[in-house]
Amino acid sequence: MLQILLLTRQHNREAFYCGEQELDEYLKKTARQHNEKGISRTFVLVDTEKSARILGFFTLAGCEIVTADLPPKYAKRYPNKAPTARLARLAVSVDRQRKGLGGIMMVEAMRRTLSVSENIGIIGFFVDAKNQGARQYYEQYDFIPLPETPLTLFLPLVTLVSAVEVLGK
Ligand SMILES: CC(C)(COP(=O)(O)OP(=O)(O)OC[C@H]1O[C@@H](n2cnc3c(N)ncnc32)[C@H](O)[C@@H]1OP(=O)(O)O)[C@@H](O)C(=O)NCCC(=O)NCCS
Repeated sequence: MLQILLLTRQHNREAFYCGEQELDEYLKKTARQHNEKGISRTFVLVDTEKSARILGFFTLAGCEIVTADLPPKYAKRYPNKAPTARLARLAVSVDRQRKGLGGIMMVEAMRRTLSVSENIGIIGFFVDAKNQGARQYYEQYDFIPLPETPLTLFLPLVTLVSAVEVLGK
């Protein structure tokens, strides 16, 4: 059975390889420390049968955005700066890619972000795509590219709420 857990020392970070060095290095060297310091939260996807093996991971963090960077339709709704959540990283082990695991983690990341929005208030969910392929991946979840920096994408809160309703079932 698949399970999503907070990253701990029990998980074998060394063996993880997703094909993007920066993501692999982050998991190995930084993610757990950032969990401990409260800088971000990294969750891992594991199979309960072999729970040390990391099949994928994602990292959530808070941040503040300059709302003038949003598409004008959204920019005018908010003060100059606003709090948001950020999907700081998302990766699936290279031998398990394109089998829906990224989707499972995305839905979980959205659920957790929705819970944050209900408790402290954020205007949506941001992600920095590594490249054009990753951008397309996020666009299928209705993330909107920012006009000036299209590899940064924004999921407004209202879209997040409906996405969790539809995808979370
Ligand atoms: C991008 C990533 C997280 C997606 O997770 P995944 O489990 O492989 O993807 P899913 O099975 O959930 O999604 C499947 C669908 O998403 C789309 N998709 C997946 N990866 C894609 C990519 N790189 N480019 C464009 N579309 C992509 C496709 O429509 C795919 O359907 P298909 O397999 O029927 O063609 C994963 O491939 C990965 O870790 N890649 C390397 C690291 C990376 O680029 N991370 C994103 C950093 S911003």
